[in-house]
Amino acid sequence: MDLQVRKRYMQAMGIPVWMPKASVEEEIPPAPPFSKGGVDMPLPVVPSSPLPVAPDCSTLSWQDLRTAVQSCTRCAISKTRTQTVFGTGNQQAAWMVIGEAPGAEEDRQGEPFVGKAGQLLNNMLLAIGMPRETVYIANVLKCRPPNNRDPHADEAANCRGYLERQITLVNPTLILVVGRIAAQNLLQTTAPLARLRGQEHHVPVSGTPVVVTYHPAYLLRQPSDKRKAWQDLLFAREVFARHAQPPL
Ligand code: URA
Repeated sequence: MDLQVRKRYMQAMGIPVWMPKASVEEEIPPAPPFSKGGVDMPLPVVPSSPLPVAPDCSTLSWQDLRTAVQSCTRCAISKTRTQTVFGTGNQQAAWMVIGEAPGAEEDRQGEPFVGKAGQLLNNMLLAIGMPRETVYIANVLKCRPPNNRDPHADEAANCRGYLERQITLVNPTLILVVGRIAAQNLLQTTAPLARLRGQEHHVPVSGTPVVVTYHPAYLLRQPSDKRKAWQDLLFAREVFARHAQPPL
């Protein structure tokens, strides 16, 4: 990519462009612990009771899937939601973005990533040449957890069938997962974010390539890590190029 263009993109993400190149490419040290949407949090407690079985949505159309989500009452958080947040964007997208769960603004508007973190996500997508309207965006949970707490394991299990069907219907070439919680849930792992970044993963069952980066809400609190997020986005583009079908 032309250096000037890249500079403009990095500016859109809020990355200081005067950083010497060596420091952009330096070894990534292990990230410090953070409280939410961040990295290296304590691993989730393994639930003592068996997790619920995800609803079988494997034959549902987009419309039926949306209706199933809207009427879902499998978790207690369905009682506190304003509305479900299904997902948005291009249903034939080459890139899919998966986050954790709706926040207050998403719960109000019924669309994922519309708050401050959503604005940064939009800039990140623009920076990598994939404007928001070209991708499909969804969350692990379709209902807002009260006070933006982390999703519980049983809630993620209850919602898994919905997300899996969205992935199957979109059939993206690449999934960009933002944040530890979403990554651990999608990839069914307890590995910390620091170990998940910088590698190509695959969705269990579908085998869709996955790249993991920081949650934009975390980047708003820790803007110095935007440079590492930029490296993740460049890596995502590489993985995408490896898997994209050449035009006929
Ligand atoms: N954070 C998420 O993970 N998803 C949203 O939709 C909004 C904020």
